[in-house]
Amino acid sequence: MTVKLAPSILAADFSRLGEQVREAEAAGADWIHVDVMDGHFVPPISFGPVIVRWLRPVTGLPLDVHLMIEQPERHLEAFARAGTDRITVHVETCPHLHRTIQQIKELGLKAGVTLNPATPLSTLVEILPEVDLVLIMSVNPGFGGQAYIPGSTAKIAHLRQMLDAINSPAEIQVDGGVNGDTIAEIARAGATVLVAGSAIFNDKAPVAENIERLRALV
Ligand code: DX5
Ligand code: ZN
Repeated sequence: MTVKLAPSILAADFSRLGEQVREAEAAGADWIHVDVMDGHFVPPISFGPVIVRWLRPVTGLPLDVHLMIEQPERHLEAFARAGTDRITVHVETCPHLHRTIQQIKELGLKAGVTLNPATPLSTLVEILPEVDLVLIMSVNPGFGGQAYIPGSTAKIAHLRQMLDAINSPAEIQVDGGVNGDTIAEIARAGATVLVAGSAIFNDKAPVAENIERLRALV
């Protein structure tokens, strides 16, 4: 199975965001990953639904929203209305996770859950049959350009077993420190969607070249 690549616009040049997203699409990106941060759950503030609204007409690719915000249930509808295709929430922010996942689905979107590096997979057992995607954070969320936490690979492999055991078709997404040095082992462990920010949007090489280089490694 070929893995999907989801460039994170967090690392893009926002003065020409539309152009950067078009470049990624032309180079064969599969999803566009949108990192939403509130300055509470994670230290930085990034952006909200307005970015989705502006990107929606720019690309045909799914807009994959990763909510690093407290009380995400308050914002689901705004993201859906802006043109989001899928929303992933952190288990650490959702005391009523089952309800939040149902709300995402009722909006007609694909629903994902994600875990910080120190949050165990056991927190997912009951929700696993309900979700379309599980995102394993392989860095502590909040910043691009951090180093991949090595223990993440074993966590991905364990999740692969848990999903296979219940015959779940859910995607395994990995986010943080995905680059030329780490991508092969992450894919081998069973990930199906790889998020990459600084490895795709940087001033070392054009977006297309960066995407091709990552693709060649998986
Ligand atoms: C981190 C974000 C990531 C980030 C990844 O909180 O969720 O999506 O953009 O950045 P890189 O690929 O540079 O580690
Ligand atoms: Zn992310």
